Amino acid sequence: MNSHVVLPLLGQVADAVSEAIERARPELAGSDPVVRRSEHADFQSNAALALAKRVGAKPRELATQVAAALDGGPLGAVELSGPGFLNLTVPDRAVWGQVSARLASSRLGVDTPEEGRRTVLDYSAPNIAKEMHVGHLRTTIIGDSLARVLGFLGAEVIRQNHLGDWGTQFGMLIQYLDEHPETAWHHDELSGDTSAVSALDELYKAARKEFDADPAFADRARSRVVALQSGDPATLAKWKEIVAESEKAFRDIYDRLGVLLTPEDSVGESFYNSLLGDTITELVDAGIAVESDEALVVFSEEVTGAEGNPVPLMVRKRDGGYGYDTTDLATIRYRIHDLKANRLLYVTDSRQALHFRLIFEAARRAGWLTDTVAAEHVPFGTVLGPDGRPFKTRAGGTVRLMALLDDAVARARAVVAEKNPGLDPAELDRIAEQAGIGAVKYADLSTSRVKDYTFDLDRMVSFTGNTGVYLQYAHARIRSILRNAGDPESEIDPAVPLEPAERALALELDAYGTTLAEVGDALEPHRLCGYLYDLARDFTTFYEACPVLKAEEPVRGNRLALCTLAARTLKHGLGLLGIAAPERM
Ligand code: ARG
Repeated sequence: MNSHVVLPLLGQVADAVSEAIERARPELAGSDPVVRRSEHADFQSNAALALAKRVGAKPRELATQVAAALDGGPLGAVELSGPGFLNLTVPDRAVWGQVSARLASSRLGVDTPEEGRRTVLDYSAPNIAKEMHVGHLRTTIIGDSLARVLGFLGAEVIRQNHLGDWGTQFGMLIQYLDEHPETAWHHDELSGDTSAVSALDELYKAARKEFDADPAFADRARSRVVALQSGDPATLAKWKEIVAESEKAFRDIYDRLGVLLTPEDSVGESFYNSLLGDTITELVDAGIAVESDEALVVFSEEVTGAEGNPVPLMVRKRDGGYGYDTTDLATIRYRIHDLKANRLLYVTDSRQALHFRLIFEAARRAGWLTDTVAAEHVPFGTVLGPDGRPFKTRAGGTVRLMALLDDAVARARAVVAEKNPGLDPAELDRIAEQAGIGAVKYADLSTSRVKDYTFDLDRMVSFTGNTGVYLQYAHARIRSILRNAGDPESEIDPAVPLEPAERALALELDAYGTTLAEVGDALEPHRLCGYLYDLARDFTTFYEACPVLKAEEPVRGNRLALCTLAARTLKHGLGLLGIAAPERM
């Protein structure tokens, strides 16, 4: 184990109970000690209840034997309660020991359970020539947090921004631009607040209208798709220009959000174009892709549709074209064979669940996806407006993300200025930006991922409740205490008896790594949000019950050490959510 890793008390207690079970009843070696945090003591083990039957004993009898085997161990007092629970209380000295060890560690003592995993994380993936919508905001924010958490836990994370940069719509756009050279769509031709992407969005709508209204234009657009796919230089050049303009606008959003995505992470649908042929050949040769109604499809063996017919993946459409399904087949093959991933994650909204189920099934049948590779769709719910319906502008259009972020920052500025009128304008601007962006991210991350959530700016920037602003403020308050104390080096006297509120805070701090490991397994950032919120509240309870600056040494030093670890843990946890933790607010 890395010397910066600190085994949490929960794990130490679980190991001790495991050993005691084995000592009491060798035939139960290796069973789960079922240790949890508890209201009645620090921890509780329910193992006796689960295991008694296997050795033909009464739970209480087995619990008594395990307790006897535990007795005298370094982990403190054991008490028997109810039908056979073991209540375990760790000595104060051991709790202080954890606090000092975590303070001394450059990673707050957190282990690296994801080591050895090569994880391809597919997220963001907006579509070229279209406005990024709130769904793309969700995948960008959730994906960013997962990239940070998994990376911190030791995974080698390969970020993939699967841009929608290929497809028949480009024939239509390029043809339209050729026929309407006066159309303004470049960044530098646009005035003030129109982004290149909204101009492209307009272009898209205009082209679409003509495509639907004029069959002759539709035909020319289709030939243009063929020209693009066969690599006609002029068409390809125009396509590249459109992609670059869109990417510039996406980059503005990424920069504003402060996410990890870089241009190197952009490996869009077009990248797989040259791999489609081999992918299809393999599927056909293996008898997995079959002709049906002039198209080439993979029929699912697992999922049936409305009339009991197997659901198809479209490998090649009747007109010979390749679509989203084809690209994702080539993509999964590439990520396994070429990127050598052993974990594949796709962060998209839950409406794509069937698509990924079919892709995974086909990849398994093709032998690409084996038992050594985990493939998971990481679905999320819809962003709702105040009316409880999918979030749109009043006119029913796509909400402009930049405008939405501006709004959030403006509201955050107002609440921060009200709370702290003494901030100078430049600092207020900086804090407002961090609070506003943080508020949007936190609101997104703190609800259970698969649930829909309502976009409510007023609630997001509130200083009370489970919000990003509340956590940033909690961190700033602790930092202010520490500044007042002159930011001392932490020195802990382990002989000082623990107050209950100190104990609760210390045990919560000790559980940081355990929580992160759960986030990495379940891919659920809201568990980290919940943890940080509990931590902030435990800190408040501690601070109300235990004076820090006015306490005498050595109590004062120990309490300052708790403050330091709490501030570092909050800041670090917010960092893994992609949220800044300002020094003051
Ligand atoms: N561009 C797609 C969309 O906007 C998301 C792509 C997700 N990734 C994938 N490999 N299919 O819905």
